[in-house]
Amino acid sequence: MDNTVTVIDNRTEKQYTFPVTRGTIRAMDLRKIKVDAEDFGLMSYDPAFTNTASCQSKITFIDGDKGILRYRGYDIADLAEHCTFPQVAYLVIHGELPTPEQEAEWLTAIRIHMGIFENIKKFMEGFRYDAHPMGMLVSTMAALSTFYPESKEVRNHDRQMESIHRMVGKVPIIAAYGYRHSKGLDYIAPEPQLGYAENFMHMLWDRSPLQHLKHPVLARALDVLFILHIDHEQNCSTNAMRSVGSSEADPFLSAAAATAGLAGPLHGGANEAVLKMLDEIGSKENIPEFIKGVKEGHQKLMGFGHRVYKNYDPRAKMIKKTADEVFEITGRNKKIDLAMELERIALTDDYFVSRKLYPNVDYYSGIIYEAMGFEPKMFTVLFAIPRAVGWLAQWQELINDPEQKIARPRQVYVGHEYRKLPDSYARGTGSEERLASAR
Ligand code: SDX
Repeated sequence: MDNTVTVIDNRTEKQYTFPVTRGTIRAMDLRKIKVDAEDFGLMSYDPAFTNTASCQSKITFIDGDKGILRYRGYDIADLAEHCTFPQVAYLVIHGELPTPEQEAEWLTAIRIHMGIFENIKKFMEGFRYDAHPMGMLVSTMAALSTFYPESKEVRNHDRQMESIHRMVGKVPIIAAYGYRHSKGLDYIAPEPQLGYAENFMHMLWDRSPLQHLKHPVLARALDVLFILHIDHEQNCSTNAMRSVGSSEADPFLSAAAATAGLAGPLHGGANEAVLKMLDEIGSKENIPEFIKGVKEGHQKLMGFGHRVYKNYDPRAKMIKKTADEVFEITGRNKKIDLAMELERIALTDDYFVSRKLYPNVDYYSGIIYEAMGFEPKMFTVLFAIPRAVGWLAQWQELINDPEQKIARPRQVYVGHEYRKLPDSYARGTGSEERLASAR
């Protein structure tokens, strides 16, 4: 089979043949299609990049039609079932599962960075008591950049790994401190010898009426939830990480941009929005009315739909499975019955079926998080903690990719043609005179 495509430009009747590589043509090849020598050449127009590959990556594979998700070739179900979050984080960053020696080194490298400067604590004190934890995380992630200027040596491998260890070690601390600040409580120092999820729960709830939530079954459930959220190829926040990182901004500033992208309700903020939606629906009797409102375009069914998955998000399946283990300890969160009935009704309605809208990773996660004692405004922070590993792996792949350079998309200009300045400005009259004439 000849791996090329031939196009005919009907404007000139010229033919062009382009190579096809891994199901793509190079967008720059389109520029050869011109009507005359002055012509800039063709571009592709793709708002929101719905059909544009921005990079080649070895990290995560998704098959949206088959509902497949693999990190470095391993299926997400196998990893969640048999590995810990630090082991899978190592895999995503380094490309292979760690040997026992590598795992010990990895844990040590992260643990020595499980501390933050006292100035950062003071910085966080500046937030209002009701500041959203994602706003605190975005700002403090960027602030970390000011403490580690050496992280700007983005092309130095040792500095890359130092920044990765620092961020993986510090993000849960900043997240936990944001929660404690919002409660007016003192910060709890990390216990690096604990497991990664366990330590996070310790920093939230130790020495408090909620310390029963530091339960080993719940810590393992959080470990699994962290694994499921580590990476998801070129999603919105990862695109932000790569775009900002492509300017050679340091990884802390790039991750601040990624965290900001994740905060949006159409992306990582959806898990918090699902809980709000379920609270508004209230009971099963109100579901038909709510679905009617969705179909009339008044609101979205949050936690449903996906740019890539046109089948069940494999993570949603596994999150639902984890729910049973959590509810064994915490008692059943009644909202899961409402969510399951809402899913059942939606998946029998042609509006959702015809648009291939299925539950995504955010549909059930918030219900479990709430049962585990987390408050809704912490849900997206729980997404950001593991996703920081994916962002860093994608950032490092970008920096080390010889094909990549600063991201700078083109546009189609549809604004005014040239126009002269109005006389009232052209006379050069100062703004005082103009404003006087308006009085
Ligand atoms: C995440 O990209 C990733 O990988 C993201 C993520 C990751 O791990 O990084 O998987 C995490 O962000 C999951 C998605 C969480 N967001 C939500 O649950 C918010 C609700 N979902 C939608 O906003 C939407 O489905 C998106 C944003 C997830 C995907 O949007 P697309 O691909 O741009 O789809 P679209 O808006 O073009 O929708 C196609 C049609 C439209 O109807 P028509 O114009 O054809 O009539 O489906 C409709 C949409 O109106 N639609 C929905 C809907 N999602 C899409 N209608 C009602 N409820 C919804 N949730």
